[in-house]
Amino acid sequence: MSKITIKQVQSWKSKKNFSAITAYDFTSAKIINQTNIPIVLVGDSASMISYGYDSTVPVSMDEILLITRAVSRGINSSLVVGDMPFGSYQHSVSVAIKNAARFLKEGRVSAVKLEGGVLVRKHISKIVDFGIPVMGHVGLTPQSVNQLSGYSVQGKSIASAQKILDDARAVENSGAFAVVLECVPAELAKKITSTLSIPTIGIGSGKHCDGQIQVFNDILGLDDDFSPRHTKKYLNLQKSIVSALKKYDNEVVNSKFPQKKHSTNYKTNIIDKLQ
Ligand code: KIV
Repeated sequence: MSKITIKQVQSWKSKKNFSAITAYDFTSAKIINQTNIPIVLVGDSASMISYGYDSTVPVSMDEILLITRAVSRGINSSLVVGDMPFGSYQHSVSVAIKNAARFLKEGRVSAVKLEGGVLVRKHISKIVDFGIPVMGHVGLTPQSVNQLSGYSVQGKSIASAQKILDDARAVENSGAFAVVLECVPAELAKKITSTLSIPTIGIGSGKHCDGQIQVFNDILGLDDDFSPRHTKKYLNLQKSIVSALKKYDNEVVNSKFPQKKHSTNYKTNIIDKLQ
């Protein structure tokens, strides 16, 4: 099966809604691979989800690349995008190019994502010049959580809405093939979507974006302690898993598992012949 291309993603602009999902390991990638979800992001949300840090700030290039390789091994046709972690691109354009290239060479992805607009336009344009497709990310940019003082909806005032629109334009003008709009008011997402000629991919930004992205663990209900407003839980896997694990524990303690069918028995008497 051939890979979804950047051209295909761009051709969906204003023509069809599309979904995208995050992934953090081989098993979940293999599951996603059985669906038609066209874009898989190895998100820096792995910082919390896979590594247990308290934000996306601490996760390193090596930590993200490790799981990116695993995800890439599980995906055949979706476009896999690697999320550049905090500190891997801000420092300089040359550092950004070097790390973006590592995502393609070592992570085996087809594109990278990075946060920011006007401030990173040179970074985006040089990475693209070197043949690496870039997905932008504006609005709520979680890597700036310390500066933003939390994870609240962005673009509520005229000045901040204008800044996000300007950032989105800068991302497009720098050559990005798509842009994530995270947690901006739906009307602003609509305005940005109709202004840009590249697809917008929303999370918590309403239905007018060209595509939507969600976090794998959120929509499957893998963490009862975390339920952001922008997520719909299609399953409550944490409850099911906890109940299955308790049942397993109980059956072992009460000698109900394993049963005869779960292991092998000799067909002839071997044991009596042992010395
Ligand atoms: O890392 C992440 O989960 C993201 C979201 C936009 C999906 O960047």
